[in-house]
Amino acid sequence: MKSKRAIITGGSRGIGRAIVERLLRDGWQVCTCSRKEEDLKKLWEDLRKPENLLTKACHVEDKQSVKGFVNFCMENMGGVELLVNNASILGERVSVMDYPEDIWDEVIRINVNGVFYVTKYCLPYMGNGSFIVNMSSGAGKRPAPYWGAYAVSKFAVEGFSLLLAEELRDKGIRVYALNPGATRTQMRAKAYPFEDPMTLKPPEKVAEFLLRLINSKLPSGSYDYID
Ligand SMILES: NC(=O)c1ccc[n+]([C@@H]2O[C@H](COP(=O)([O-])OP(=O)(O)OC[C@H]3O[C@@H](n4cnc5c(N)ncnc54)[C@H](OP(=O)(O)O)[C@@H]3O)[C@@H](O)[C@H]2O)c1
Repeated sequence: MKSKRAIITGGSRGIGRAIVERLLRDGWQVCTCSRKEEDLKKLWEDLRKPENLLTKACHVEDKQSVKGFVNFCMENMGGVELLVNNASILGERVSVMDYPEDIWDEVIRINVNGVFYVTKYCLPYMGNGSFIVNMSSGAGKRPAPYWGAYAVSKFAVEGFSLLLAEELRDKGIRVYALNPGATRTQMRAKAYPFEDPMTLKPPEKVAEFLLRLINSKLPSGSYDYID
């Protein structure tokens, strides 16, 4: 790959942050977002203000915000070889009957529409040999009672990834839906409050796997993290 420029959504913590750090170490230019400017500033300072890291607050469910974020990335990087749609929220873990409607809407807006907007606005800047990685979940592959809108949103991410892969095959852009599996993050702790986080793999393992995936010759498709 001649240039190594990446856009990662939801890079302020968890799996997204681990991906940002791993790519920076590998010499990539990285542009990332999350909703909170102060968390992004802290990330940049924690990493000792790297020159090859750009950050901007963005709400992926808001198309104007996404346009602003992608424009900012492009003004600074000029193109993108790797897009990771990582930002998402969990919502509630209750039955469909009890699911709060406003939270349902919010989860679908962020986890589904957000992936669409970021992808749509990045695609004009992506060429032959680029990658799109959409963070999926086991809940998007088999029935997961009481996971509500999150499960439905991840089924959508799986489907979106497959259709995108078909559309982009001739352009030489590979598309992976990646299920990271149980990982030690805030989202996982919210979903499983009684679990000991130290029994789970750290997010750095997922970042390593993602790098292996894009360096592999594997075709577009849906993949699960394996150690
Ligand atoms: N951890 C697991 O075990 C696990 C398992 C399966 C799949 N996954 C998937 O892996 C991905 C990363 O999960 P994680 O566990 O690292 O989650 P996390 O710790 O909750 O981090 C989520 C990141 O996304 C950002 N974000 C959330 N909503 C956003 C929005 N509307 N616009 C922009 N940024 C937003 C968050 O920052 P702000 O809140 O400040 O915006 C944060 O940076 C997600 O797609 C998740 O569904 C995780």
